[in-house]
Amino acid sequence: MNAPVPESNNGMERDAPSWLANIDNAYLRGLYAPVAHETTANELKVIGEIPADLCGAYMRNGPNQVYAPKSKHHWFDGDGMVHTIAFKDGKASYRSRFVQTAHFKANAARGEEQWPGYMGHPDPNAPPGAGSDGWLKDSGNTDLILHNGEVLALWYQAGVPIRLDPATGDTLGEQTWGGALTRQVSAHAKTDPVTGELFFFDYNTKPPYMTYHVVSREGQMIRNVPIDVPGPRLPHDMAMTENYAILHDLPLFWDPELLPRGIHKVTFYPDMPSRFGVIPKYGNEGDVRWFEAEPCYIYHVTNAWEEGDWIVMEGCRVTEPCPPSKPGQGMYSRMMAFLLLKARFHRWKFNLKTGETREEWLDDRNAEFPTVNMDVAGRKSRYSYHVSIPTNRETMVFDGLIKFDTRTGSSQSLKFKDGWYGSESPFAPRLNSNGDEDDGYLITFITNEVDGQSECHIIDAKDIQAGPVARVILPARVPPGFHSTWVPGTEMGWA
Ligand SMILES: [Fe+2]
Repeated sequence: MNAPVPESNNGMERDAPSWLANIDNAYLRGLYAPVAHETTANELKVIGEIPADLCGAYMRNGPNQVYAPKSKHHWFDGDGMVHTIAFKDGKASYRSRFVQTAHFKANAARGEEQWPGYMGHPDPNAPPGAGSDGWLKDSGNTDLILHNGEVLALWYQAGVPIRLDPATGDTLGEQTWGGALTRQVSAHAKTDPVTGELFFFDYNTKPPYMTYHVVSREGQMIRNVPIDVPGPRLPHDMAMTENYAILHDLPLFWDPELLPRGIHKVTFYPDMPSRFGVIPKYGNEGDVRWFEAEPCYIYHVTNAWEEGDWIVMEGCRVTEPCPPSKPGQGMYSRMMAFLLLKARFHRWKFNLKTGETREEWLDDRNAEFPTVNMDVAGRKSRYSYHVSIPTNRETMVFDGLIKFDTRTGSSQSLKFKDGWYGSESPFAPRLNSNGDEDDGYLITFITNEVDGQSECHIIDAKDIQAGPVARVILPARVPPGFHSTWVPGTEMGWA
């Protein structure tokens, strides 16, 4: 699909849609300006050498609004665009592709945005929407999950998964598992690296407010379980171990007094506990055991596993998810305050025998978008890789990477060059890895905020402080975005 809209002609936003000229929103301008075109480029210029044992594709999803927004625009509202860089035979190629949800196609057919954004109000004149309250555009912009040889683009408000070709990012169609999908799918589904099963959850403003599901390696729906939570919730992630799933009931949700009036005010209730529902992988509603912990919000779990009677879950804990707004930021002040995150690496432990919860901070830096070696997902892991988020900026940017070693309690960090900002950075195992959990590379897109030049950096995961071992020069600007995945070449018959 070619450019749905003409591009503007304005410095670093030269490749952005022309309607942008009238927009005053820090999450649509400069670094965040959407790109108007899909791009295809082969045999990219490389500074350094692409390692011979790196084979596969790095895919990263993110918002890329096509048409002028219909309401106040939140960074989370943009149409999904997946940026894919594929490494094969020492060469790199790049593709950017829109995630072609049904709503994306409906907008393309009309040539305009038809749905209000997350900070708007339900529009009775808009076509049927999606998400937990059923009135938003399903943008597919949030997450990418590899399952059964395909990559699924998922949306944080829960929508229909979009199947993507893992080598190119091209949309293949919707994934309903042969029509067995009777609910929607939230971002942050989990694929078990051993069984190949997919775990996911859905949440909704109407009962059941949450559901839990398992799909087999081959794509058969094998579990649909309603989860009893006290009202509409806004969970963002879940966790998976070898034998359990952990569902989140956190005290941040739309104000239930206002919701019946169509007003969606995200509110933090600091007097309510965080609750975590541990359900056996093939369990039923009555098998859920709830554990309470200190109030917080969690965007992202790092990993979880079983250790004797304990379930261990590590993730990025936000103590104050609704911080006060700064003056002078106008109608976007609330969004700007929310998106500073202030998340810190944290560990929760739940004892299946005694019902006890323990929790502890693991670090005090603002770090998020954690990744691990996917071979140890759901199993005890030692290393995780987070982006660092400076707290002195107006918008959320990733100015470096932190590698945590929870066995020794140590960490390494890499700061990007001034003015360059990165992306979530998944772990790519080396071909013929020596078996060490960190024997591989971190891959990230990085963009200069002055001239919009983008690169892809390949970093040795054993020594991230050394900086990139290779830099691939990209032919198009990659705006900051959300989640990513590494697709091993073996999944595509490349190795
Ligand atoms: Fe997320």
